[in-house]
Amino acid sequence: MTQLLDGNLLAKEIKNKICKIIEKKILKKHKRIPHLGIILTGNNSSSITYVNNKIKECENIGIKSSLIHLPINTSEKELLEKIKGMNQNPHIDGFIVQLPLEKHLNQDKIILSINPKKDVDGFHPENFGKMALDMKAFFPATALGILTLLEKYKIQISGKYTVIIGRSRIVGRPISILMSRKNNPGNSTVTLTHSKTPNIEFYTKQADIIIVAVGIPGFLKGKMIKKGSIVIDVGIHSHEKKILGDVDFYSVYGKASYLTPVPGGVGPMTRVMLIKNTLIAALNNR
Ligand code: GUN
Repeated sequence: MTQLLDGNLLAKEIKNKICKIIEKKILKKHKRIPHLGIILTGNNSSSITYVNNKIKECENIGIKSSLIHLPINTSEKELLEKIKGMNQNPHIDGFIVQLPLEKHLNQDKIILSINPKKDVDGFHPENFGKMALDMKAFFPATALGILTLLEKYKIQISGKYTVIIGRSRIVGRPISILMSRKNNPGNSTVTLTHSKTPNIEFYTKQADIIIVAVGIPGFLKGKMIKKGSIVIDVGIHSHEKKILGDVDFYSVYGKASYLTPVPGGVGPMTRVMLIKNTLIAALNNR
């Protein structure tokens, strides 16, 4: 039997809690609703969908959002100016620059220009470094969402063997740090596999927990896992009017003990964790 990890349900519970905090703590005391800024460049259809979903989530919860959508040929200088504006605007509690960026824009330079106190993505080296050192910081939303989902279903990660597929800065690397840290949740033994890892199956077949963030639809097959493992699917792809994950759902379902569905697993958790980070930024900003 495989139990699905319901990200929609948990995200809803967390949203209700956030709404109460906004009502009781922020509106009554500070008389201002939290405000998330979003900078989007270009016309990448996935990025537009992600950003629209983030804006909708803000509306649902009652958080303010402001989108700056810049054309595809925006120069680095123009983008840096917009970031400076967000950094200096006292009404913006936190903001994100949606990734990936166009090739002519230097991602490192862009991320470094974000004020770490407003970096609700947790991508700035100050936040990322603090996370790696077990210090208080903004943690990337997807990684936080995965940990929260595992906690909710009381899935023990301490002492377990976790294999992560994909080493992106957005998901693979941060989740590898958080799963292996000397903290709770944490204390997992982690192998971070990637495009240059020969025979990924060798690792996944031994794993208690597998986190797949590789960006290839149906990459993880049932024959690559051991019976009873826990499988977290971070991928999301539109394919012939269907939405697919990085996990081949039908061969893994029945063999894994727990599995996140796509959609309705990690996605809603990522969005709600971004809002949670924005709420923290708003509370810090009073
Ligand atoms: N692109 C895909 N996921 C993310 C994310 O969590 N934050 C940002 N800024 N860009 C992304």
